[in-house]
Amino acid sequence: MREDERQAQHFLQILHISLLLSLSLSLSLSLSLGPVFEKQPSSLIYPEGLTEGKVTLSCQARANPAASYRWLVNGTDVPLGMDVRYTLVAGSLVISSPEGVKDTGSYQCLAINRCGTIISRAAVLKFGFLDDFSSDSRSPQTGYEGVGTFLACQPPPHYPALSYRWFLNEFPSFLKKFDGRFFVSQVTGNLYLARAEPNDTGNYFCFTTVNLEISSKSTFSRPNQLTVLPDASPRKSAPSIKVRFPAETYGLAGHTAQLECFAYGNPVPKLRWRKVDGLMPSKAGSSVEGPTLTLPDLTFDEEGVYECEAYNSEGSDTYQGRINVQAQPEWLQVMSDSEVEISSELHWSCVAAGKPRPSVRWLRNGLPLSTQDRLEVNGPRLKISNLALEDSGMYQCVAENKHGTVYSTAELRVQVQAPDFRLNPVRKLIPAARGGQVMIECRPRAAPKPSLFWSRGTELLTNSSRVTVSPDGVLWIHNISRADEGKYTCFAENYLGKANSTGHLSVRDATKITLAPSNADINQGENVTLQCHASHDPTMDLTFTWALNGVLLDLEDSAGPFHRKENIGDLLIVNTQLSQAGAYTCTAQTVVDSAAASAKLVVRGPPGPPGGLLVKNVAETSVELRWSRGYDNHSPIGRYVVMGRSSLSSEWRKMRTDPVNIEGNAESARVMGLMPWMDYEFQVIASNILGSGEPSTPSHIIRTQQAAPTVAPSGLGGGGGDRSELIVTWTVRETLTVCVC
Ligand SMILES: *[C@@H]1O[C@H](CO)[C@@H](O)[C@H](O)[C@H]1NC(C)=O
Ligand SMILES: *[C@@H]1O[C@H](CO)[C@@H](O)[C@H](O)[C@H]1NC(C)=O
Ligand SMILES: *[C@@H]1O[C@H](CO)[C@@H](O)[C@H](O)[C@H]1NC(C)=O
Ligand SMILES: *[C@@H]1O[C@H](CO)[C@@H](O)[C@H](O)[C@H]1NC(C)=O
Ligand SMILES: *[C@@H]1O[C@H](CO)[C@@H](O)[C@H](O)[C@H]1NC(C)=O
Ligand SMILES: *[C@@H]1O[C@H](CO)[C@@H](O)[C@H](O)[C@H]1NC(C)=O
Repeated sequence: MREDERQAQHFLQILHISLLLSLSLSLSLSLSLGPVFEKQPSSLIYPEGLTEGKVTLSCQARANPAASYRWLVNGTDVPLGMDVRYTLVAGSLVISSPEGVKDTGSYQCLAINRCGTIISRAAVLKFGFLDDFSSDSRSPQTGYEGVGTFLACQPPPHYPALSYRWFLNEFPSFLKKFDGRFFVSQVTGNLYLARAEPNDTGNYFCFTTVNLEISSKSTFSRPNQLTVLPDASPRKSAPSIKVRFPAETYGLAGHTAQLECFAYGNPVPKLRWRKVDGLMPSKAGSSVEGPTLTLPDLTFDEEGVYECEAYNSEGSDTYQGRINVQAQPEWLQVMSDSEVEISSELHWSCVAAGKPRPSVRWLRNGLPLSTQDRLEVNGPRLKISNLALEDSGMYQCVAENKHGTVYSTAELRVQVQAPDFRLNPVRKLIPAARGGQVMIECRPRAAPKPSLFWSRGTELLTNSSRVTVSPDGVLWIHNISRADEGKYTCFAENYLGKANSTGHLSVRDATKITLAPSNADINQGENVTLQCHASHDPTMDLTFTWALNGVLLDLEDSAGPFHRKENIGDLLIVNTQLSQAGAYTCTAQTVVDSAAASAKLVVRGPPGPPGGLLVKNVAETSVELRWSRGYDNHSPIGRYVVMGRSSLSSEWRKMRTDPVNIEGNAESARVMGLMPWMDYEFQVIASNILGSGEPSTPSHIIRTQQAAPTVAPSGLGGGGGDRSELIVTWTVRETLTVCVC
């Protein structure tokens, strides 16, 4: 059988066993399962006075056996079955004809089965209402042309918050919420006019709406009579901010924050917002130029000081306030269902993020836990020592701050079991190599922990020079010989019972390398074979692997450089490159042991690039170059060649040098025959008998010194130029501008 088939079969066996295991585990779990919420009640605002209505607070838990349910309001039992207004439909509580005075409160559902009890988050039931405006008539108001004024809404009692609009003279000629001159505050409901006009005279009505999930209700005020007296030449005035957002606003991460700002002034002031201590978040959109700054989906980065500025031709006014971002609790870490042996210790922790920092408390079967006896509650940590059967049950950790509460639930099962080897017996057949070592595990299911010991036949095994029995039941045998072959039995015992399990240790011949690879020394581009043969126990398969400098090689890639030679361990390297030099290790392996041998491969090649190229002593027609030797790649450097290029050509050319032939031990040379006042760069190439290597990285660009031209310019001409300039031109060289100051 080939190794991969063997592995596949082994894998299938493991899969089979783990399927059996998970099947039996899920079977044992599905036999009984503590309740876990699938639906929990949500807070609700119900319209007051909606007769014939019903409120449904949902609750549903998965559990086996099925859960039964109880409900609490403000912490005391809802009198289910005693008051006909309450009915339980599956787990949900239905309240018929709900009334604010009787039913306002905080509701929690309990789901119960024999494994334990869990309590749901609290759902607050409140009643929404909007009374009528007071029927008292409102006193008339007088304004002046060009001057700001406001009309108060004075909303009636209501719950929850209202939205506001105003209409003029008759329903439904609504004013725009904001048209530059008018502004309706959604905080107070008041109507503001930045600058009154005579034609604003009229009757104004404040119109408010309360929006509930099920319904909405609106009502409007008695008329507010406004008379605006004309002024032949209304006075201009700088802005004055009248609607100010709070100095401190608390926003919740993920929610929307709104700040209001509105100013009186003539001309009508414009408004703009900025963040004083950072960039205005782009999500504020066009609201940065209006009376209401809106920041949806707040994040902690957006905390800070915001400023509203009102400005017109007469001046400006500013106002600043802070947004503090806070957050509801959110779990970072929770506990999970646990099966733990009796008498052992349980450690659970629940960690939540939030602002302000949430506090964590613990519940068992819906009741608060505190430190006592074997139980230690320490904020996010719960510890129970010396677990007893009665500690089994449903546990919850609850994190809360003023913005919310989150619950996490887990079941604790305290296990008792006599030792049982059925799920994980001692391996039946344990092969081991002569001279090697073997580890035999003994892991019965048992609670509390069993005492374990090993025997071979009638001989009890104890620690000796070759045998170690660890306290958790692992048996080690070192330097194995034929005489160790035989049956080994592990015995397990706790106060509930005992059990044993036996395996057979089969001793095999050790694997040995019989022909080790030898060191090799080749030229780049050649092929090389590294040999590796091994002897092994014929009852087992042998596989060979190769590693280069400790990294396993891929021998299956037919396009790659490494190839296996037929059935034996030899390695063929095709077209060997410099990077493939190094220590090669051949490993021969059976299921019981392995043997390895290494050899060093040297690959010779053209030299690497010279380093640290410097240009020194720059003269008119020559420079000096200095460099340091690069790698010789195991073959001495024979000589160097200097290449160069000027700004006239992008091509590298071989340069004339002094000495003409640069020997392999040189680290400097002069480059000759350069043009004066010209930009040059250079590189150096090393070569050996195997060829030329990579060029060095180019030098910095240098400019040769200037020199008197060696040939007199021809075609001299000139003319033009500025008053203090004379342009002189000639052929061969470039145009020069000569100053005649
Ligand atoms: C629950 O408590 C709130 C606030 O203390 C109270 O207004 C309400 O009437 C209580 N509800 C019940 C049903 O006791
Ligand atoms: C009120 O007067 C202003 C100028 O004073 C004018 O722009 C506006 O259109 C007038 N509005 C109405 C409704 O007549
Ligand atoms: C045997 O040796 C192991 C490992 O050194 C040790 O953990 C264990 O306690 C020893 N057992 C006895 C019985 O001394
Ligand atoms: C292993 O056992 C053999 C005899 O069985 C003995 O000669 C050899 O010294 C032992 N080696 C070690 C490392 O204990
Ligand atoms: C080992 O366990 C088997 C049952 O699995 C039992 O019949 C046998 O007596 C046990 N052997 C000893 C020595 O206790
Ligand atoms: C190296 O082996 C390959 C493939 O076997 C062959 O094509 C190539 O000619 C060999 N090269 C040399 C230098 O022998």
